[in-house]
Amino acid sequence: MTTRRGFIKSGCVACLLAASGASLLEGCATPLPMLKVASKSNELVVDPASFISERGNMLVVRTSQLEHDILLIKDGDNYRALYLRCTHEGVDLTATKNKIYCSSHGSVFDLEGKVLKEPALRPLKTFKTQLNNNQIIINLT
Ligand code: FES
Repeated sequence: MTTRRGFIKSGCVACLLAASGASLLEGCATPLPMLKVASKSNELVVDPASFISERGNMLVVRTSQLEHDILLIKDGDNYRALYLRCTHEGVDLTATKNKIYCSSHGSVFDLEGKVLKEPALRPLKTFKTQLNNNQIIINLT
């Protein structure tokens, strides 16, 4: 049985992008790699080796502790974690290599979480990250 969350995540990225006015080239993007992670006391631990070079510097991190996924971005030696929950009405977002899209009403966010296209008005929630003992820690609090 397909859940709503699974349906949205496995849905056609091209259709979502077309609905939000993105270019056809962006619509041809392959889905970002996903990593399922168990949480430990409000922290997610991600192995930096999960960023396989040929697959880019972005990972979608899923945990049962959160309703929505996290987009983890490697930026040099730093990591940035964005909550993939639309700040307009709280639905799942779809991340691509360049932007983050909401299929509900067309909001678009950049990879810093800033609003590029309304109706969303607030930036995406971010989580603090740190590198500890060669592990990326995402703090969920
Ligand atoms: S819920 Fe995302 S734009 Fe409305």
